[in-house]
Amino acid sequence: MKIIILNGPNLNLLGKREPEIYGAETFEDYFQQLQKKFSNIEIHYFQSNIEGEIIDKLHEVGFDYDGIILNAAAYTHTSIGIGDAVKAIETPVIEVHISNVYAREEFRHHSYVSPNAKGIIIGMGMKGYELALQSF
Ligand code: DQA
Repeated sequence: MKIIILNGPNLNLLGKREPEIYGAETFEDYFQQLQKKFSNIEIHYFQSNIEGEIIDKLHEVGFDYDGIILNAAAYTHTSIGIGDAVKAIETPVIEVHISNVYAREEFRHHSYVSPNAKGIIIGMGMKGYELALQSF
């Protein structure tokens, strides 16, 4: 089984960025643990701060991989392009958010990803990625 975790803008700063919201762990450390724990699955990871690169990656993996775990971060709330890409591809997408976006500012309450996601995991911290992986 081949799964990819796609992280959007500013998630390269996990561990340093607003740790009271996003925790103190870097994604690289967390990802290594995931790979050990799910050694029977091929797990890939891609992070970009650039909207078009996320869309390109969705096109690249979206007809080949078994699952996509997407945290489009701030683009979730703004990007019709990422929403359209999720709709265009065949691979099921699970949308993940580390924080509970519904307990935060109103502009975080809308997602262009959700209507075409297979499922949504919100507010479970980094554990959300693992839950998404388990669901695949
Ligand atoms: C986030 C929530 C978004 O609103 C925010 O812009 C992020 C991270 C989360 O994982 O909680 O960058 O997607």
